[in-house]
Amino acid sequence: MSYYKVDNLEQYFKHYNKSVREPRKFWDRIADENFTWYQKWDKVVEFDMQEADVKWFINAKVNITKNCIDRHLAKRGNKTAIIFEPNNPDEEAQHITYNELYDRVAKMANALRKQGIKKGDRVCIYLPMIPELAVSVLACARIGAVHSVIFAGFSASAVAARVNDCEAKLLITSDGAYRGSKTIELKSIIDEALKTCPTVENVWVVKRTNTDVKMVEGRDKWLQPLVDAEDANSVAEIMDAEDPLFILYTSGSTGKPKGMLHTTAGYMVYSAYTFKNIFAYEENDVYWCTADIGWITGHSYIVYGPLLNGATTVIFEGVPSYPEFDRFWQVIDKHKVTQFYTAPTAIRSLAKEDWKWVDKHDLSTLKVIGSVGEPINEEAWHWYNDHVGKKKSPVVDTWWQTETGGIMISPIPFVTPTKPTYATLPLPGIQPVLMDERRNEIEENQTAGSLCIKFPWPGMARTIWGDHKRFKETYFSTFPGKYFTGDGALRDEVGYYRITGRVDDVIIVSGHNLGTAPIEDAINEHPSVAESAIVGFPHDVKGNALYGFITLKEAGAWRNQDNLIKEINEHISSHIGPIAKLDKIQFVNGLPKTRSGKIMRRILRKIAEGDFSNFGDTTTLLNPEIVDEIKEGRIN
Ligand code: WTA
Repeated sequence: MSYYKVDNLEQYFKHYNKSVREPRKFWDRIADENFTWYQKWDKVVEFDMQEADVKWFINAKVNITKNCIDRHLAKRGNKTAIIFEPNNPDEEAQHITYNELYDRVAKMANALRKQGIKKGDRVCIYLPMIPELAVSVLACARIGAVHSVIFAGFSASAVAARVNDCEAKLLITSDGAYRGSKTIELKSIIDEALKTCPTVENVWVVKRTNTDVKMVEGRDKWLQPLVDAEDANSVAEIMDAEDPLFILYTSGSTGKPKGMLHTTAGYMVYSAYTFKNIFAYEENDVYWCTADIGWITGHSYIVYGPLLNGATTVIFEGVPSYPEFDRFWQVIDKHKVTQFYTAPTAIRSLAKEDWKWVDKHDLSTLKVIGSVGEPINEEAWHWYNDHVGKKKSPVVDTWWQTETGGIMISPIPFVTPTKPTYATLPLPGIQPVLMDERRNEIEENQTAGSLCIKFPWPGMARTIWGDHKRFKETYFSTFPGKYFTGDGALRDEVGYYRITGRVDDVIIVSGHNLGTAPIEDAINEHPSVAESAIVGFPHDVKGNALYGFITLKEAGAWRNQDNLIKEINEHISSHIGPIAKLDKIQFVNGLPKTRSGKIMRRILRKIAEGDFSNFGDTTTLLNPEIVDEIKEGRIN
């Protein structure tokens, strides 16, 4: 068994160069050595990047759940597959073994079949972070139904848009969800959403909060009796390598979400390979990713990647601040977590609190700590590295996207020397390039450009569900023949990549190309600042000028506003140069964020420009109320 595990930089370069010279051989070996197949492939890859057509492992037959569960049973049947840590720390954690996971998935798979769900049918899943979420995902995969998990924080209209786009037949939800001190009535959100979803024939309801719910006769069923009636044995559907595995919606430049389609074999190979290498996974590790399974990070690095490797994966139902600000650290201590993977937004919010919360707990089991989802600013990186990693557990700053299926650029722990704010080097098998404005590939280092990938990789999305034209236009047309990520990046003198943010976040001020991320970094280093977002607004002389929205660690600091503005600009001047100084600074109580924690710069840009029309759909924001407050405080 080998995933080209590398032990030092020399080996990394050896494998990397091989993967570029002979990509087919490279992936052939990984796929061949690490999985159980019904039938192997005739050809490793076929592609036409102009047409956005890519296929991997042609004619191979496989079922991903056989690889996630069945093949581990002989050796690891009694090993814990899933640790469930409930929202309330007083509720007992659950340890679900691989044997138990098999039973639960088999029973649900049988119930799905009994309900009339067949290979290729779409099933939407709208559940909190409870074991049934992972079990539902796997049960769909077992029978070849295409799962589409919808993050359980989305509003009824956002749910309906997704359900209708993929024309789901069945929806799986729960009575309610616990989130910190709150209980959210999921079922009533679904009832509202389904008023406009004609394709949904049945709704299965998991009992979690014992909230009173209305069950629609003939449509709604409690899940438990359905699975209790089934056998703990279920034949896995034989899937073609390119049969759809799941659809996951991601937002695009228009209001309509894009249903990214991932297929079976390529996604399986890629999520397993990346998990093993990037988290330096070893047999007795306890791995914890704090993302929600409603996002790609949860798909690839809570469910599929870890289970494909026979790992123990933690599913956490709660939030970092409940009941206190040390919940993450308490859970790491409690379950002896060895790998911890979270998002910069969570790191920043916890770094605002006293670090005694961290130091209260024993984090000595940690080996690797990871970051994902947005650029991690320098201050947060150091806080994470010092207080959580204790300077001994490398920080893996992992760059990737819903579209890429798995991590693409990241340090390999104990191999790639880390560098704050840099995602560093591509994984063997991944060929990133930087492109200039003339659409030429930039060969040299110490440069910046648009980040593209020039050769296909197994984990890439194959299309946008129902709209291949949009897929091709969005990702394969700006730089014909290459996959365009939409991100900008720098490459330093040794070839390390630093993601500077979405390309549309680059602001040209007086002819200088400024990324928002480095300016935000500089501002965030000011001791009073918690978080910041920079946008451009039109300026007579400079073309664009900069507007900063800033949240402070304590509201009291507002009193010396003029001094603070001066100091912040001095920080920027000394870190980047006077050119990057802000023309306007507005102190705010919060920044508008998506449910996954990304700052919605589009909205801030409009406010900065004084254009209050057409904010688009703000109901999917974590904190829609903040928008009005920011509008009112706008600096003229
Ligand atoms: C951003 C999340 C900087 C980037 C897995 C990308 C990052 C988008 C990083 C995809 C990182 C993700 N450093 N930026 N380590 N990771 N991004 O689809 O802009 O939710 O294009 O996938 O997040 O977000 P998505």
